[in-house]
Amino acid sequence: MNPEQLKGRSLVTLKNWTPDEIRYVLELSHSVKKAARTSTVHQRFVGKTLAMIFEKRSTRTRCAFETAFGEEGGHPVFLSTQDIQLGSKESVEDTARVLGRMFSAIEFRGFKQSTVETLAREAGVPVYNGLTDQYHPTQALADILTLQEIFGTVQGKKLCYVGDGRNNVARSLCVICAKLGINFTVIAPPELSTDRELLDECSQWAAESGSKIVVSSSLADVLAADAVYTDVWVSMGEEHAAAERKRLLSPFRVDEALMEKTRNPSCIFMHCLPAVKGEEVTVPVIEGHRSRVWDQAENRKHTIKAIMLATI
Ligand code: CP
Ligand code: NVA
Repeated sequence: MNPEQLKGRSLVTLKNWTPDEIRYVLELSHSVKKAARTSTVHQRFVGKTLAMIFEKRSTRTRCAFETAFGEEGGHPVFLSTQDIQLGSKESVEDTARVLGRMFSAIEFRGFKQSTVETLAREAGVPVYNGLTDQYHPTQALADILTLQEIFGTVQGKKLCYVGDGRNNVARSLCVICAKLGINFTVIAPPELSTDRELLDECSQWAAESGSKIVVSSSLADVLAADAVYTDVWVSMGEEHAAAERKRLLSPFRVDEALMEKTRNPSCIFMHCLPAVKGEEVTVPVIEGHRSRVWDQAENRKHTIKAIMLATI
């Protein structure tokens, strides 16, 4: 893989990134993290600017982009929808063209996937998806970096996602696992299972990588998992569905009994955070010895820095 082919590239979903390109960014993330550990200072974004558009709230993603870009000498600018015209008084296309004239790259967190895709199409600079209703690709990269740190080789490992299988995190994990040869099992009530269209797309990549994608509603399918992953029952923007979600997902809470069902004493617990402790995961699991959630959170920054280094 020639790293030059990533210059100018956007990351709106991992679907159009090849396995080699994803592996390259992960390798770069490991070296970025190593440099951070040894306090090695680089100034690779001096004279560069990053627009950070947020329609939804964020702790990890905002702080990861802002600190990663700033500590390399770049100038990040935070823009909430209170601050800019985005799709209200000015079309997304026009906003994209203007921002593309002023910034070296753009990050977008919000509702519609079509908004980040329009930005990427029109801006003429790299655009990064910091979460939409459909995908959360930078999260998936941090999660795989975390798995690589723990297991070394991730090919053939079993990642089991339990909960809302339709959400952005589940969908991005499905894509990255299919591309990298990681066995991915999603355990969700049928009403909240991953959509057939995405599963069909993923099955093609899985056939090439040797990954097995399994969709289930039986908790027994956590058997032999190397990692059990969950996310909130109610994603941002879906608050109206909270009662229904609780009803459907209560049997899918990750507790110690479920972790035991893996029959794998080395199985780890993962969560993208923020977590609603006591809801999708119990306190003993998220605070327990299997939990790797803080490593995942830290790895957001290293992987995000690597993506920006690779593409700007
Ligand atoms: N995991 C994640 O995206 O966290 P934030 O919502 O805090 O950015
Ligand atoms: N699925 C969650 C992820 C938060 C990082 C949400 O969209 O709210």
